[in-house]
Amino acid sequence: MTIEWIAPFYDRLCTLLGLGRAFRGQILEVAALKAGERVLDAGCGSGVWTRLAAEAVGSSGQVVGFDPGPRMIGIARRNAAQEGSRATFELAAVEELPFEDSSFDAALLSLVLHHLPAEVKRSGLKEIGRVLRPGGRLIVVDLDRSDSVLWRIVLWPLSHVGTSADAFEGKIPIYLREAGFEPVTVEVRWWKSLTFWRAMKPLSSIASVETPAK
Ligand SMILES: C[S@@+](CC[C@H](N)C(=O)[O-])C[C@H]1O[C@@H](n2cnc3c(N)ncnc32)[C@H](O)[C@@H]1O
Repeated sequence: MTIEWIAPFYDRLCTLLGLGRAFRGQILEVAALKAGERVLDAGCGSGVWTRLAAEAVGSSGQVVGFDPGPRMIGIARRNAAQEGSRATFELAAVEELPFEDSSFDAALLSLVLHHLPAEVKRSGLKEIGRVLRPGGRLIVVDLDRSDSVLWRIVLWPLSHVGTSADAFEGKIPIYLREAGFEPVTVEVRWWKSLTFWRAMKPLSSIASVETPAK
C-alpha cells in the first residue's frame, strides 16, 4: 500500500499534478486549526501539510505525521529538520495506531484512503475515531465520483484499480458514517476530481461498525 518508489520525487509530482501550495493551503483552511491544538496527519507522505499544520498550531500545539513508508518518513523528518519545523513523525499504519484514546483535536487523511483495501479503510477510520477526542474533526481529501465526463475519462485507469474503485463510486462518506463519524459534510471540490470532507466524532462515543459498504 506504500508508494516508496515515488518518495524522492513525490513533492515535485504533486506540484505537477496541481497538488502544490494552493491545494495544501485549501486543506489548512478547511481544517481551521487553532493555536494549541493536537493534530494528526495520517499517511503524511513527505510531510508537506504536517509542517504547515505545525506552523498553524504554534508552539503550544503539536502535530504528528505518520506513514508506514520508511523512505517517506525519512524524507519528512529531513525536510522538517531543514525548515526547523516542530512537526514530528512516526513510522506507523492507520489500522494500528500507537496513540492514546482521545488524544487529538483534529486529524487529516489526504490522498490515503484510495490506497487502502476496504477492510483497512474500515479499521483505519475506526482507529482515527479512537484517537480523536469527542467533538474532534477528521478532514478527508480523496477521489470521489466525478460529475465531469472529461475527468472520468482521464481518471478511468485509476477507477479500475481495486482499492480506488469504491472511492470513484462515491463510497468514502459511507465508510466515514459506518465508522461512527457524524455529521459528514462536503467542504470543497477540487478540480472536479477530489472532494474535501469534514467528518465529526460525536460528543457521545463513536458507534461500532454496523453495515459494511458493499
Ligand atoms: C498519495 S500519498 C499521500 C501523502 C500525503 N498525505 C499527501 O497528501 O501528499 C499516500 C500515502 O499513504 C501512505 N499509506 C499507505 N498505506 C497506509 C496505511 N496503511 N496507513 C497510513 N498510511 C498509508 C503511503 O505510504 C503514502 O505516503
